[in-house]
Amino acid sequence: MVFREQDTHALHNEPMYDPELLKKLDFSQSPTKFNPPVTAVNPGENLLVRPLCRADYEKGRYAEMNACKNTYFITVIEDTITNRIIGAATLVIEQKFIHGCAVRGRLEDVVVNDTYRGKQLGKLIVATVELLARQLNCYKLTLDCKDDLIPFYENLGYELQPGNSNYMSMRFQNQSPKLFKMLRSKL
Ligand SMILES: CC(C)(COP(=O)(O)OP(=O)(O)OC[C@H]1O[C@@H](n2cnc3c(N)ncnc32)[C@H](O)[C@@H]1OP(=O)(O)O)[C@@H](O)C(=O)NCCC(=O)NCCS
Repeated sequence: MVFREQDTHALHNEPMYDPELLKKLDFSQSPTKFNPPVTAVNPGENLLVRPLCRADYEKGRYAEMNACKNTYFITVIEDTITNRIIGAATLVIEQKFIHGCAVRGRLEDVVVNDTYRGKQLGKLIVATVELLARQLNCYKLTLDCKDDLIPFYENLGYELQPGNSNYMSMRFQNQSPKLFKMLRSKL
């Protein structure tokens, strides 16, 4: 089992969402297949899949994100030997005004520390977010990625949407975090 007492020091410090949610995920429902089998509850020796916790941040951002109720579900993989986070992914829940006020999930910021890559952890964190999104009643989960990662996500069950696979953005060069904070404090 994964949430052993000795592994849960950070969980005592305000998890971003209820860790019980991870225990309920049914990995047989995910199109992702693992060999050898792993789940969020059994991610592998000395690994722990858990929500991001207040203790993971010294200050600031965690509280701001956590104040947005039912919006940010950041899940991390911790190496319980070094107590370091070695993988993470963010599920952002977007409340829709259309679609009968449904909720849509967005998968963001998927990353595995480069020394831990090639051990199914990328697959595991993405499958965990997918099952979380299902559990939270999202009607779909979407992501954008660089071209060379399309096979990675296709293998996990994601599909390019014909006629709707163009990622567009507008970057605001002068919007530094400091400036953003100052502007926001004036709102
Ligand atoms: C992409 C990333 C999360 C994959 O993590 P990982 O732990 O190495 O992935 P896994 O071990 O679970 O690999 C699962 C499968 O995907 C394949 N894969 C891994 N990285 C891949 C890549 N960059 N492109 C294509 N396939 C990839 C693996 O070969 C493996 O295939 P298999 O199941 O047939 O053996 C990791 O390389 C990473 O953090 N990259 C930098 C950040 C990034 O690009 N994030 C994605 C933002 S959209």
